Amino acid sequence: MADAARRHAELVARIRDANHRYYQLDAPDITDAEYDLLLRELEALEAAHPQLVQPNSPSQRVGDAPSGKFAQVKHALPMLSLANAFSDTEVAEFVERIERETGDRAPVFSVEPKLDGLAISLRYEHGVFVRGATRGDGSTGEDVTANLRTVKSIPMQLAGGLFPPAVLEVRGEIIMPRADFEAYNARACAEGRKPLANPRNGAAGSLRQLDAAVTAQRPLAFYAYALGEVQGADLPATHSQTLQWLRQLGFPVSPEVGTAAGLAGLLAYYQSIGERRDGLPYDIDGVVYKLDRFDRQQEMGFVSRAPRWAIAHKFPAEEARTTVEAIEVNVGRTGAVTPWVQMTPVQVGGVTVSRATLHNADQIARLDVRVGDSVIIRRAGDVIPEVVRVVESARPPDSVPWQMPAHCPDCGSAIEREVGEVVARCTGGLFCPAQRVQAVVHFASRRAMDIEGLGERFAQDLVAFGLIQTVADLYRLQVADFLEMKRRADARDDSTPATVKAGKIADKWAQNLVAAIDASRNTTLERLLFALGISDVGESTAKTLARHFGSLDALMAADEAALQQVPDIGPVVAAHILHFFAQSHNCEVIAGLRAHGVHWPEGAPQRASDGPLSGKTVVLTGTLESMSRDEAGARLEALGARVSGSVSKKTTLVIAGQAAGSKLAKAQDLGLEIWDEAQLLAFLAAQ
Ligand code: IVH
Repeated sequence: MADAARRHAELVARIRDANHRYYQLDAPDITDAEYDLLLRELEALEAAHPQLVQPNSPSQRVGDAPSGKFAQVKHALPMLSLANAFSDTEVAEFVERIERETGDRAPVFSVEPKLDGLAISLRYEHGVFVRGATRGDGSTGEDVTANLRTVKSIPMQLAGGLFPPAVLEVRGEIIMPRADFEAYNARACAEGRKPLANPRNGAAGSLRQLDAAVTAQRPLAFYAYALGEVQGADLPATHSQTLQWLRQLGFPVSPEVGTAAGLAGLLAYYQSIGERRDGLPYDIDGVVYKLDRFDRQQEMGFVSRAPRWAIAHKFPAEEARTTVEAIEVNVGRTGAVTPWVQMTPVQVGGVTVSRATLHNADQIARLDVRVGDSVIIRRAGDVIPEVVRVVESARPPDSVPWQMPAHCPDCGSAIEREVGEVVARCTGGLFCPAQRVQAVVHFASRRAMDIEGLGERFAQDLVAFGLIQTVADLYRLQVADFLEMKRRADARDDSTPATVKAGKIADKWAQNLVAAIDASRNTTLERLLFALGISDVGESTAKTLARHFGSLDALMAADEAALQQVPDIGPVVAAHILHFFAQSHNCEVIAGLRAHGVHWPEGAPQRASDGPLSGKTVVLTGTLESMSRDEAGARLEALGARVSGSVSKKTTLVIAGQAAGSKLAKAQDLGLEIWDEAQLLAFLAAQ
């Protein structure tokens, strides 16, 4: 019992501190998942020892008391929190409880994304917005009316009908859409201002500004999901109908909300939103299930902090805390030196990770990441994990700031950073094995020369054992060379199973590689140009160049003026191309490729096309069901379109498939023409 009381006091203190950091300082030092664990432990302890429960225990309250920065608002109806479910079993228990107590089988639920922002309550009297408040501790919040007036998606006046309700409180979430968050941070970085840690912090910090003019600069949005006090209106019988009514009154309601019946319906919704999560325009941390019928909600009632008729089904945590063991650097194909951290392995978003990127030295300096630090890392979708912030309170006293090494770890050449450039570069060029390896990996990649089976590991070994100096040497390699490479690599690693070390399997592997290299001899000019790895010449520029010049010799002979005549080629890319062909070793590589039989069809330049889409720039985004994006792009190009990867004012048409995200949002913002897949198919069929 004494132990329980001590642990209880510890937990209360820890959770209070976490609440304060999260709600008041907008600077949490633990992850949401760690917070949930602490709260669960507290709740379990209090269930086992009810005498420990005090009225102001964090288990009895939501959030934190108001900060004193704003006037206080007492909520007419308390703003509650939601119980959490972290597994299908917990959802099953929730559904069973409802079935048992209401007698309904497979009850209907409103199913909604759990928006990751901050909860607010908007009060309308006779149809006019009069006050808006944060949740605060659930019973008293902060008056942020002036700030909310700057949020464009909040109606100042209710739509629909001459007789608005005498009182209507609408509750929902203030969020910062992901695309706006990224744009805000890009601008902040460019202007040397402090970036926002994540969209949720961005939303919370923006709303709790003392100067509404600052809030007005921040891209905030609002989505409604519940009611507070209502007077003088007949409410529908269900929550889902209420959301529909709120839409008619002019409130944004997430298009992802719907209804689902029984456990199977809920789990199917969870899975479908989980799959679409990365394509949504905002961050969500789970889904919410709410029993749809209001009379049934009343039967289920409440426990202290949360309704018994609703539950939040959380996604696996995307953030985790771990320790930095080392900070290393990687050298890329163009010599760019990127730092990364080696961390104590940790589970995040359902997988174990031990490395995270840091993008560049600026980011390290901004975050001040040091060896020995505790850091919060984040992994969203398939994205490589990144360090979000350092837990400064846990920093070892003897730690020292990290510094970019002065010399390349691979070739010893100086690492330099041009004034005004974000990236540091190894100055070794093709003398640097790391850059040579990356050049080979790029050359062999699927969209370049497409040499199947030649990945980073073999590229490293080929360079390390001196079997190749440049990509042209690949075409000299024979089965015996690969077997020799394998023998030396095996001797070094001593990890390959004996059966693979020699004999038929190894022979077959080497023959396949030689055959793949041989097959790549027959290529196209655009693939070759992309494969050469000229700075800033990506796939689409390579294609434009190939079309425009028709032959490699014509391109190599072009001067700056001729290059700048090519659509989309500005002075920077033109300079990179000229620089590339001006270097004798690059010309030697090209001559070597030709000498080894690499060939491509050369044709007349195609400068003017008169297809139905010529002169039009089309962007494809989202997932198409009937064909891949590449295929759709090729068909559009065949009709004269230029297919581009990014949306701008110059875009003529955007084709949006399933789960289209920020590009679609941008196209809508710019008022561009947008087609769905059906329109695309109809157009193609008509050609
Ligand atoms: S309903 C009585 N619906 O989650 C239930 N909350 O953990 C009141 N949230 O404070 C909340 N999306 O900030 C509800 N679709 C949604 C939500 C949602 C996000 C947040 C909200 C709330 C917290 C509870």
